[in-house]
Amino acid sequence: MNSPEYQSVKTIRLMASRRDDLIRAATLLRDAKLVALPTETVYGLAANGLNDAAIEKIFVAKSRPLTNPLILHVHDADSALALFDIKNDRRALSRFQRLAQQMWPGPLTLVAKKAPHVPLLATAKGLSVAVRIPANGVTRALIKEIGFPLVMPSANLSTRPSPTTADHVLATLDGRIDAVVDDGACDVGIESSVVKIDDDVVRILRPGMIDARMLAACLDEEVEHHTSAPTSDRALSPGLAALHYSPLVASVTVCQSDEVKNYWLKTDTILLRRSDYFSLKNDLGSRSDDAKSILTSDDPRAFARELYEKLYDAERDPHTALVIVIPHDNQEAWSAIVDRLRRAARS
Ligand code: TXA
Ligand code: MG
Repeated sequence: MNSPEYQSVKTIRLMASRRDDLIRAATLLRDAKLVALPTETVYGLAANGLNDAAIEKIFVAKSRPLTNPLILHVHDADSALALFDIKNDRRALSRFQRLAQQMWPGPLTLVAKKAPHVPLLATAKGLSVAVRIPANGVTRALIKEIGFPLVMPSANLSTRPSPTTADHVLATLDGRIDAVVDDGACDVGIESSVVKIDDDVVRILRPGMIDARMLAACLDEEVEHHTSAPTSDRALSPGLAALHYSPLVASVTVCQSDEVKNYWLKTDTILLRRSDYFSLKNDLGSRSDDAKSILTSDDPRAFARELYEKLYDAERDPHTALVIVIPHDNQEAWSAIVDRLRRAARS
């Protein structure tokens, strides 16, 4: 991890609804400053993606290892294509065109061979680059206006949960970044699906709400999950390293619903789906009055939207012993959520 040597700054809150505030955000970004911006997935920490000095500040502000590459965000498909070197790769080009047309703007990031002008600092020295078009209209208009792509990792200190409100951004980055543009809560709530399109097989490197079935239907070909244990997959997508998305509480334990009885009668805070809560209550009886149960939605889209809010809520009491019950559900829509929950475990 980098040393957290940053110059403390005053972080200003700008409002997405105010024209003057957006002009201020654009000026800051042109001056190689750091501005957190809303996207439909989570808030991102933006900097000029073609400027090494600006990109470097991102790694310092987030305390992010330089080995973890960044996603470049653009406002249209032509700008995205210009960041790749796939013009002579017909298979990758055709996949790009189909996905760009049907899924963008939206929670999908495409990875392929990078164009020469993409800074190696953004790709962690790798020869592939990750690119997406976010659906938030304010952020897209801002990117169009400034005329350069933005690197935007999630706007949180490294390893902590991604932010879905401007308050979450300030919870870990206040004083470390120049501004945050507040546009309320994010719609999707978990990070984009990251998909590599220039190998023999299309591979999901990070699952998200655009799932394998949707990708396969769009591409008319098989799509593979890059499924490996949370600890052993640093090489292909370093952001998948274990211990990610983790709230800062005394402990975080992740378990299946058949293991939860060990915790049910204790005072640990249990986070679980509403339906799981009621069936466990039926089996195991009521929990004690001083035991907190955080109930989440039974619908995967609503669960994703609420998840990080609930994790930041749990942080309000740093003594919390948090137990997360993994939803037992094979539906593809849950796979991204289960991935995030497993990576929240902190022993
Ligand atoms: O929804 C999102 O993707 C959000 C919003 C702000 O756009 N951004 C985000 O960025 O989640 P970050 O940096 O927190 O996660 C980026 C992920 C990491 O898992 C990283 O390893 C992977 O994308 N990634 C980035 N560039 C890559 C590359 N060239 N090859 C493989 N994986 C890459
Ligand atoms: Mg992140």
